[in-house]
Amino acid sequence: MNKLIEFDEKNKVFHLHNDKISYILSVEEGGYLSHLYFGKKVNGYHGQLRYPRVDRGFSGNLPESLDRTYSLDSLLQEYSGVGNCDYRTPALDLQNADGSFAARLVYQGYEITAGKPKLEGLPAAYANADEAQTLAIFLKDEISGVEVTLLYTIFKDLAVVARSAKVTNAGAEPVELKKVASMQLDFIKQDMDVISLPGAHANERHIQREAIGQGRKVFESRRGASSHQMNSFIAVLEHNADEFSGEVYGFNLVYSGNHSFEIEKDQFEQTRVVAGINDYNFSWHLEAGESFQAPEVLLAFSANGLNEMSQNYHELIREHIVRGKFKHQEREILVNNWEATYFEFNEDKLKTIVDDAKELGIEMFVLDDGWFGHRDDDNTSLGDWNVYERKFPQGIKHFADYVHEQGLKFGLWFEPEMISIDSKLYQEHPEYLMQVPGRKPSPSRNQFILDLTQKAVHENVVAQLSALLDGGFIDYIKWDMNRHISDVYSVSLPKQRQGEVYHRYMLGLYEILETLTTKYPDILWEGCSGGGGRFDTGYAYYMPQSWTSDNTDAIARQTIQYGTSLVYPPSVFTAHVSAVPNHQTGRITPFETRGAVAMSAVFGYELDLTQLTDEEKEAVKEQVKTYKAIRPLVQFGDFIRLKDPAKGNQCAWMFVSRDKNEALVFVFDRLASAQPTLTLTKLAGLDPAKNYQDQKTKAIFSGSELMELGFYDPVKRHDFTADMYHFKAVTD
Ligand code: GLA
Repeated sequence: MNKLIEFDEKNKVFHLHNDKISYILSVEEGGYLSHLYFGKKVNGYHGQLRYPRVDRGFSGNLPESLDRTYSLDSLLQEYSGVGNCDYRTPALDLQNADGSFAARLVYQGYEITAGKPKLEGLPAAYANADEAQTLAIFLKDEISGVEVTLLYTIFKDLAVVARSAKVTNAGAEPVELKKVASMQLDFIKQDMDVISLPGAHANERHIQREAIGQGRKVFESRRGASSHQMNSFIAVLEHNADEFSGEVYGFNLVYSGNHSFEIEKDQFEQTRVVAGINDYNFSWHLEAGESFQAPEVLLAFSANGLNEMSQNYHELIREHIVRGKFKHQEREILVNNWEATYFEFNEDKLKTIVDDAKELGIEMFVLDDGWFGHRDDDNTSLGDWNVYERKFPQGIKHFADYVHEQGLKFGLWFEPEMISIDSKLYQEHPEYLMQVPGRKPSPSRNQFILDLTQKAVHENVVAQLSALLDGGFIDYIKWDMNRHISDVYSVSLPKQRQGEVYHRYMLGLYEILETLTTKYPDILWEGCSGGGGRFDTGYAYYMPQSWTSDNTDAIARQTIQYGTSLVYPPSVFTAHVSAVPNHQTGRITPFETRGAVAMSAVFGYELDLTQLTDEEKEAVKEQVKTYKAIRPLVQFGDFIRLKDPAKGNQCAWMFVSRDKNEALVFVFDRLASAQPTLTLTKLAGLDPAKNYQDQKTKAIFSGSELMELGFYDPVKRHDFTADMYHFKAVTD
């Protein structure tokens, strides 16, 4: 493979590049790492562009120099340590054994390797020796002996750089880490906006865009999970950038716990982005010889707007994050009984749903919450992963066998990180429940968190799940987490290590997931946390798909799925057709629209199939047939956003096959109008020179016609409609 990373010895400049991007950094006077450039590919950098030296009042200088024009308070840096006359937010904050807050990170050397090393205990993108190269830069604070290793991986074919940081205490005394960011990126003055993905339970990942002003702004989660409330992603983009034009920088953390994305615009209108684990309630006691590994951030660059950034993330997540046999495997169409029955079911009732599912061509049945302990509502039994005999008198395997006999796969719901007070597990092991000694812990959904930092808890979870999975009758698991962490404390850790609990919880969870997914490679794992409460790239490393939102309303879902697609490919998010009136919003939408929204991702049903009319059953059969035909395109094609539902009465997106021979377009309209405004839908991503035939009308268009002229959307006489167009390239 060509060299992707160059080091110019003379100018002390590192240049990471591929056909799409360049990332350039250098070692400045005093050994500080300065940031020079990240953007479109540069052909040969000759070391001329350097940060200008300017004497600025109240911006101090290096102790070893009398040069008043050189200040860390203004220099664009790669990874700043606390306490060096740089008053902006640092990447590394720590307290030394003498009580001081100081880390002067000075360049020591570098190493370039083929491929991409693993990050110990953490999920991260992976790549072979012929797919990527990695630069390791070694920094050191001479006084304390604290060392920092920065990793930069550049992928051969993607406009992405993966960054992470590791701190090692090579000194003699312990240090207290207060903040260890994964990366920092400094920009010179530009007119830029920031996009984030805030939300709430059943209302996740809305696109929020605002101008970056002076001061510091933080997008974060303090909930012990990546959260519904603020996804672990931001983009910084030119003020005029849109879906198809303008420069965009994406930052996505490969981590499922507390995160923070800080944006600080300084006195010179330079912008600093610092991202990583949230420093809220965080400290890490680092004994001499110990290391702390911060998670990875995936930096994406696009010179052509947000869609191109998303496509880079989609490819990266599909090819370098998702692992195992399901990576390239089409995912089954499932029916889940949650909204069909909630807790009220027994084996006989479920069998009727399974029978209908078989009839309709559905491929998997997922038994959701309520099958274990004595769970008739959400107040009991979490932690007791043994079958509820009243509902399954002959055991769970008996029912699973029935499902298999009908030719369907069998999936099961778990919520392994939780404990109910009303459970055998709590009676036997009250110490497993995470709480602060002497204080009553706060319930949420009347349940509590298991302290996954304890080895015994970890073993208990693995043992209970293994006991079921060893039976060999489970094909799929939905791993849920229905509350966020509070009352943060671990009885297994000493006083000075209580600031480590949030992160140790994540390390415990990742270890459990690594153990189970390795032990049971044939099981498809679906992540869930009350819908999309832990919907992140770290989770996708273990769970090839995740439940996008508990909100199954087709209209609300358009906004949720539109925002989700900013980072995540449709192959990792799941969407189900549910009953009307919708259980979350009360809205009534046409069956066809519910189908079209759900078919835009990993498809399924979440309703009582036995309650459907004959006409609706025919519609299901038709949807199932259609989805099976379009599935490879939806799950593995390129996804392009066309119309943002937040900006008008319509939402539209499309899928294009890699060879550009097939395209699938979805256009959704909301409210009908007596005097409708005529709208056009213009496509993107097609081959302008190819001709495409609409599979329904047989009309033929050139790719450039579809992209430049577009087509008129039909006038609507109903609310909440959907149109699906399927184009295939034709040769004449
Ligand atoms: C969460 C999930 C739902 C369902 C319930 C069961 O809310 O997101 O899909 O599994 O838990 O309690």
